[in-house]
Amino acid sequence: MQFTRDDFPEGFQFGTATSAYQIEGHAQGGAGPTHWDSFAATPGNVVRAENGDLACDHLHRMDEDLDLVAGLGADVYRFSTSWARVLPEGRGTPNAEGLDFYDRLVDGLLARGVKPAATLYHWELPQPLSDLGGWRNPDMGDWFAEFTETVMSRIGDRVWSAAPINEPWCVSWLSHFDGHHAPGLRDIRATARAMHHLLVAHGRSIEVMRGLGMGNLGAVCNMEWSTPADDSAESSAAARTYDAIYNRFFVSGLFRGEYPEEVMAGLEPHMPQGWQDDFATITQPLDWLGVNYYTRKLIAHKDGPWPNYREVEGSLPKTQMGWEIYPQGLHDFLVRTAREYSGDLPIYVTESGMANPDEVGQPDTARIDYIAAHLEACRKAIADGVPLNGYFVWSLMDNYEWSFGYEKRFGLVHVDFETLARTPKASYHALAEWWRG
Ligand code: FCB
Repeated sequence: MQFTRDDFPEGFQFGTATSAYQIEGHAQGGAGPTHWDSFAATPGNVVRAENGDLACDHLHRMDEDLDLVAGLGADVYRFSTSWARVLPEGRGTPNAEGLDFYDRLVDGLLARGVKPAATLYHWELPQPLSDLGGWRNPDMGDWFAEFTETVMSRIGDRVWSAAPINEPWCVSWLSHFDGHHAPGLRDIRATARAMHHLLVAHGRSIEVMRGLGMGNLGAVCNMEWSTPADDSAESSAAARTYDAIYNRFFVSGLFRGEYPEEVMAGLEPHMPQGWQDDFATITQPLDWLGVNYYTRKLIAHKDGPWPNYREVEGSLPKTQMGWEIYPQGLHDFLVRTAREYSGDLPIYVTESGMANPDEVGQPDTARIDYIAAHLEACRKAIADGVPLNGYFVWSLMDNYEWSFGYEKRFGLVHVDFETLARTPKASYHALAEWWRG
């Protein structure tokens, strides 16, 4: 890595991120079933029908993993809490073992001098709530408030930051319109409701955490730069629709208390009753915004019903996911988001990284280059006046990459899924050398 800490503003936070279902081993420790378990058990949804039953067995290897975080010299570690581990039924009686686990995790980080950054929900909805309609159900706000209270009454006094929901677009659109993630629906009405209810749940959760006296609360949105695939006016319009759904809907709700016209053009008839009255809850003041960024998409017009877009294969170099490498998009999002939505609020890049078919003993130089290029985009954004305060690499270690199973490796640390042995990759050593100073 060609950087030093002096290349970034004083106090800039470097970190790495994981999520509960992707690493913990969900079948252990008294967690209840989730919609990801059902989704994964349904043939055709996940590569080899793999699930998070054991994953990286982080539940039993937490100390070793926190040593890896500390060894990296990370200032901060972003993790998520599993709703079904804490409340196996989604509501009601907590699983003491689950709460104890997160308590030890937070203390373990603090003992190693690493700041704990908590995300409450990173996708594994308790099955009993999914059975009641999950994100389609207007009661999700109440249920999520109860979950927030249960977790944060236990660890909220010691976490450095907290965010309610990871990546609203994935939770709603990818999971209810595209059907690629749990619960695997392809239903426009379900999508509209999920998109709105999750923002209401976000606001309710922020209210609960403020009530507990917590600070440094934010929201984490993923963004994917949308480029028209050709010069036609139709493809420009299609790219705008894609951008509105993916990149503007959620920040618009959070910061402006309104939804983009291009999205309402398709979703308005399907919105839950009284949705216009929920913006006071949705626009709870925040302390920071997180942007997760990986790639761009080339978008062309598609005939037929709204949203009238299709993805076209691009020609830039790609990662193991088949995602084009496009660091410029990160810079452009940081600039646009600050200018048009979040203003002076600190922004963090809460996820950035790449999948690579890594093997032990082969240096992952492609990942080092990817991270360096995205950090350079961050530096440009800072020079352009963006109040960027930190950067998190996704991910600490190889893990369960959702519908791609264990095949796609995003880690700074290699995990052998037979033996569960952890081996730091060249990218880990490169970052450690720099971050530890
Ligand atoms: C993000 C998710 C994370 C991981 C990375 C590759 O969308 O937040 O869990 O899957 O992509």
